[in-house]
Amino acid sequence: MDIVIYPDPRLRKKNAPVTTFDESLGTAAREMFEAMYATSGVGLAAPQVGLNIRLLVYNPSGKAEHAEEEVVLCNPKIVFKSKDTESGEEGCLSFPEVNGQVIRPLNVKVEAQNLQGDAFELELEDWDARIFQHELDHLDGILFIDRMTPASKSQAKPALEDLVYDYKQNLADS
Ligand code: CO
Repeated sequence: MDIVIYPDPRLRKKNAPVTTFDESLGTAAREMFEAMYATSGVGLAAPQVGLNIRLLVYNPSGKAEHAEEEVVLCNPKIVFKSKDTESGEEGCLSFPEVNGQVIRPLNVKVEAQNLQGDAFELELEDWDARIFQHELDHLDGILFIDRMTPASKSQAKPALEDLVYDYKQNLADS
């Protein structure tokens, strides 16, 4: 499973709700974790591996040996978010060499379905809430550069231009 790199248009596509909770969905989630660990990430959304469905995975530890911290969410939605916000440093596996400050609500309450289609709720704080919100944004075609503070965005500009250049080169070569 290869990770889709900015500015690939698949990162901006509409993502369909998950409606079939079968074995292939579980396999996709498993492969997303493997791709995420292989690239030292803490979260990954399906469009980042070219699957335009509303599925995301994360592990706040970022470590395969802490499998007990793995979270898989199908069709997640935020049902509550705190008024308290916090700025924090983020990166994204679809943006190698890019990071920056993003302001997000500190706490969120989430409704989602598991890989069997069973609905459940989750209350997330701090780091977990940040990872989740970053991945949920991917399902809506929103990227962290869209939410970066102006200072971070201008700092990231050269690296973003490099990614656009590389993407065009790869298209030309293929
Ligand atoms: Co990301």
